[in-house]
Amino acid sequence: MAVAARIEEVRNEVTEFAERSRSAAELMQSVVKLLHDRMLKYNWVGFYLLEPGADPPVLVLGAFEGAMTPHTRIPLNQGICGAAASAASSGQTVVVDDVNKDPRYLACSLETKSEIVVPVFVQGEIVGELDIDSHFPAAFTPEHQALVQYCAQLVGQKMEASPI
Ligand code: SME
Repeated sequence: MAVAARIEEVRNEVTEFAERSRSAAELMQSVVKLLHDRMLKYNWVGFYLLEPGADPPVLVLGAFEGAMTPHTRIPLNQGICGAAASAASSGQTVVVDDVNKDPRYLACSLETKSEIVVPVFVQGEIVGELDIDSHFPAAFTPEHQALVQYCAQLVGQKMEASPI
């Protein structure tokens, strides 16, 4: 199946999950499983959530699919994950085509070649992020970015409607 068709299909399934899920936690579980199972190049898929009240702020690993990672708690001054959630990034999606060339990168698997991190917002504030690693270099083209951003947006909307 062509990539565009696969992306469209997965996007529609995520929309259905968002409508059916009773909580943001349930939706996050469904999203990581769907993306990991259906997208060939999405080899590790997980959510990190900002720990409420933590000072300094820290991202805590939530629902994920893929190999266990040593990075279960990431301060905002570390990693690509930290960079995507810090004020300096102003909540932009971070795409790294070659993680071995990015000094911020915290290794999870030696096989990882590229990564995308998309912030999750609730009422304009970053509450967490959706992080995906690929064994393929430059896996996250603009059409993939749009899919991952859509997933993160639906999770943010679900959190607004029904906190975790
Ligand atoms: N690579 C991430 C760490 C998380 S693991 O990839 C799951 C980073 O550089 O922040």
